[in-house]
Formats: sequence, structure tokens, C-alpha cells
Amino acid sequence: MIQFIIPLTFLIYTTAIVVNQKNQCLCTDYKNQYECALNQQCIWNTTNCIKKSCGDFYYPLQCKNKKECFYYAQNSSCLDLTNCSSLNSTSTSQCESQSSYCGMYNSTAKECYSLTTNPCSQYTTQSECLYSGQGQLCLWENTQCQDFNCTLLDSQTQCQTYNLYCTWILNNQTCVSATCDNKPTSECTLFLSRNNNSTYIQPCYVDYSEKPAKCRDASLSDLSPFTCSLNTLNFATWNNVELDSGSCELCYAPLIQIISLAILIMIQ
Ligand SMILES: *[C@@H]1O[C@H](CO)[C@@H](O)[C@H](O)[C@H]1NC(C)=O
Ligand SMILES: *[C@@H]1O[C@H](CO)[C@@H](O)[C@H](O)[C@H]1NC(C)=O
Ligand SMILES: *[C@@H]1O[C@H](CO)[C@@H](O)[C@H](O)[C@H]1NC(C)=O
Ligand SMILES: *[C@@H]1O[C@H](CO)[C@@H](O)[C@H](O)[C@H]1NC(C)=O
Ligand SMILES: *[C@@H]1O[C@H](CO)[C@@H](O)[C@H](O)[C@H]1NC(C)=O
Ligand SMILES: *[C@@H]1O[C@H](CO)[C@@H](O)[C@H](O)[C@H]1NC(C)=O
Ligand SMILES: *[C@@H]1O[C@H](CO)[C@@H](O)[C@H](O)[C@H]1NC(C)=O
Ligand SMILES: *[C@@H]1O[C@H](CO)[C@@H](O)[C@H](O)[C@H]1NC(C)=O
Ligand SMILES: *[C@@H]1O[C@H](CO)[C@@H](O)[C@H](O)[C@H]1NC(C)=O
Repeated sequence: MIQFIIPLTFLIYTTAIVVNQKNQCLCTDYKNQYECALNQQCIWNTTNCIKKSCGDFYYPLQCKNKKECFYYAQNSSCLDLTNCSSLNSTSTSQCESQSSYCGMYNSTAKECYSLTTNPCSQYTTQSECLYSGQGQLCLWENTQCQDFNCTLLDSQTQCQTYNLYCTWILNNQTCVSATCDNKPTSECTLFLSRNNNSTYIQPCYVDYSEKPAKCRDASLSDLSPFTCSLNTLNFATWNNVELDSGSCELCYAPLIQIISLAILIMIQ
């Protein structure tokens, strides 16, 4: 693990992780209750860390963002989703409020459905363009659906809505792509970037050796038991039951992906 991280620390995207949910840590990977609690998808059952079931999600937002669950407002509970068409709804927003995945409404069939995703430029309606149920990220501008780009967001509020992708620069009042370096230390966690159809995560850490402290790109060895899970969106975890020894490790080391990504960035 450490062997192949170290040679890459000279590159900008040292530990950039390709977001592929298959590579995310499983609840059963967690060795202690503390790490288990940091991952909102997991719950500690007195002896083991296990995956939450729909009924264990308390917040509507967490519930509706799970593909296999939907939020049932009538009794404020999170239930198993069997089929988008079984949701009761008369509009896109009603579909979306129950399930992000089923967040589209077919007014002919009068039912919710999940969109088959396409490149942004192929969408002709605002609801398709702004559908976010399967990680799609597009912007609706001048009645056209465009690839997401922070520079198109012209207010601080809009920019902050996408604060994992973008940073609002106060000096010149513009929205730019997020980097660790342009995040204040109070928001120094990670940033996401898009390239074609892939999303990358770059974890950040606060470098206290600089005065004042600065937010910088982190390699896994810069992350603590606390930031290891949080700043990698649960792609990494602390590999020891004891928090005062051990290190931060990817749950599924995508060795090939890291190396090919690093090379891609070098030749660009
Ligand atoms: C906790 O989960 C493990 C693994 O699924 C299971 O074997 C065990 O019986 C569970 N314990 C309790 C108290 O539910
Ligand atoms: C809410 O309603 C659903 C569907 O009727 C039911 O299955 C579930 O048990 C209810 N949950 C609570 C907490 O009442
Ligand atoms: C979901 O419901 C629709 C319409 O009722 C049906 O055509 C489709 O086969 C169902 N899908 C699954 C996976 O059950
Ligand atoms: C939809 O409405 C029907 C009829 O009122 C009801 O029986 C059913 O439980 C509702 N389903 C959901 C998912 O809200
Ligand atoms: C909406 O439903 C109708 C009737 O079931 C179907 O013919 C049409 O393809 C659906 N449209 C979309 C966008 O899924
Ligand atoms: C965003 O738009 C700017 C200005 O048009 C362009 O220079 C930049 O390459 C775009 N960024 C991405 C990630 O497409
Ligand atoms: C605004 O400032 C940021 C950070 O200094 C810089 O990257 C960006 O290019 C500037 N934008 C404009 C339009 O001057
Ligand atoms: C993105 O896609 C274009 C066109 O397919 C390709 O030329 C380019 O190398 C890709 N970039 C990355 C970083 O994968
Ligand atoms: C992105 O994904 C879409 C749909 O799967 C595909 O049509 C398109 O060619 C892909 N673009 C690139 C650059 O890989």
C-alpha cells in the first residue's frame, strides 16, 4: 500500500480516487465502532459493523438518496423501494422528494421513473438535465443542457450549492473549480472533479506547518483516523483497531486506476 503511494506524492492528484461505488468501503470492513459511526451507511449492532437497512435511515435526505429506499412522508419513514412506478406522485418534484433515483415523472403513464442517463448535451428538457439520481451532473443554462462547469455559476449561493466541485473566490466574485489550495481551512475536506464520465476525489488536509495553516492536497499518509473516512467519502479507512497506530488505507486499492490516472495527468 504505502509503497505505491509514496512515489506518487510528487504528482498533483496523488491519491485521486476514481468514484466507483464498487470500490467504496463495506460496513464489514470496519474494525471498530468509531470508524463504523463515521460512515452514514453503516450501523454498529453491539458486535459488528453492518449495512443499514432502509428503516435505519432517519433523515429524509439520506433515505431518498439511497437507490434501494424511498421516503414515505405519510408516516415519516424510510421504506424499501421495489419499483419507481409504485410511488404515488403527480409531478417530478413529488417523485424526487421520495426518491432521487426515481426522480422523473412520466405524465403520460402518470408514474415516477428513473432516467437512462446520457451526456448532458443530449437532454432537451430541464427535468432530464437536472436529474441527479444516478450521479449525473449537468447545468440548465439558456434553455440548454450543458456539461457542468463552475465558471457558469455566477452567484455565491449557486456556487456554494456545489461546494464540493467549486469554490467562490471573494476577491473577484467568481466561481472556479475547487482545489484543496483554494479552500479555506474551515472547509478543508476534499474536492470532486469530473472528467468525461468519471468523478475523481482528491482528499485535502490542513497543513499546520505553514503559518497561517493552509489547505493542501492530502496523500493517504496525511490523513488521521478521523479524516481518513470523511475526506475520502468512505473510500478509505483506518486499518487498525487502535486509533493511535496504523494508517489510512483504501478499502479496494485501485492500483491500476491510480497509476493510469497519475500518468494521464502527467502528460496533460
Ligand atoms: C450483528 O451482526 C452480525 C453479522 O451480521 C450477526 O452475526 C450478529 O448476530 C449481530 N448481532 C446482533 C446483536 O444483532
Ligand atoms: C409506515 O407505513 C408503511 C406502509 O404502510 C408501513 O409498512 C410502516 O411500517 C410504517 N412505519 C411506521 C414507522 O409506522
Ligand atoms: C416496474 O413496474 C412497471 C410498471 O408497472 C413494470 O413494467 C416493470 O416491469 C416493473 N419493474 C420491475 C423491476 O418490477
Ligand atoms: C399509494 O396510494 C395507494 C392508494 O391510496 C396506497 O394504497 C399506497 O400505499 C400508496 N403507496 C405509496 C408508496 O405511497
Ligand atoms: C411514458 O409512458 C408512456 C406510456 O407508458 C411510454 O410510452 C413512454 O415511453 C414513457 N416516456 C418516458 C420518457 O419514459
Ligand atoms: C469551463 O469553462 C471554461 C470557460 O469556458 C473553460 O476554459 C474550462 O475548460 C471549462 N472547464 C471544464 C472542466 O470543462
Ligand atoms: C479569480 O481569481 C481566481 C483565484 O485567484 C482565479 O483562478 C480566476 O482565474 C480569477 N477569475 C477571473 C475572472 O479573474
Ligand atoms: C475524455 O474523453 C475524450 C474524448 O473521448 C478523450 O480524448 C480524453 O482523453 C478523455 N480524458 C480523460 C481524462 O479521460
Ligand atoms: C459518457 O457516457 C455516455 C453514456 O454512457 C457515452 O455515450 C459517452 O460516449 C461517454 N463519454 C466519454 C467521453 O466517454
